[in-house]
Amino acid sequence: MIKVIFVCLGNICRSPSAEAVMNSIVEKAGLSGIVECDSAGTIAFHAGEPADARMKKHAVKRGYTLTSIARKFTHDDFEKFDYIVAMDRNNFTDILALDKEAQYVDKISMMTSYCRDHEEEEVPDPYYGGPQGFEHVLDLLEDACTGFLEKIKEDFPEEFE
Ligand code: 4NP
Repeated sequence: MIKVIFVCLGNICRSPSAEAVMNSIVEKAGLSGIVECDSAGTIAFHAGEPADARMKKHAVKRGYTLTSIARKFTHDDFEKFDYIVAMDRNNFTDILALDKEAQYVDKISMMTSYCRDHEEEEVPDPYYGGPQGFEHVLDLLEDACTGFLEKIKEDFPEEFE
């Protein structure tokens, strides 16, 4: 299994959505047995909670069901996952800061680095904004997850023969 973890701040908006969008793309490609997704937050404030109701509502309109329960990213996740994908620069630097010996730097990337149709450098936090912000998150994630699956295929060609 190729293991992916998406990371945002609270693990109730962006990363649970990334997990659901990626699962959907992976499933449609018939690759559910090869790529496994999870998500986490850099803070534990919402740990144990389901995804944000507003995020869920916008995701469902596009056919994505958010099922994850929030948890904090932990040091063990560096070993468990092949790809650690941050939603914004703060998430990226917070993850890097946990990797004190810089052993896992090559596993860490920005979600927007996989976008093909968007120029943005971050998936912006939608928490304090309006409905447009949640739609924008989903637009970015759909673009990024499509590109990300192609990147995974390039990195692990033997898994997709
Ligand atoms: P997320 O959104 O990082 O995409 O899950 C947020 C969730 C909660 C908070 C901020 C952003 N918060 O401040 O509690």
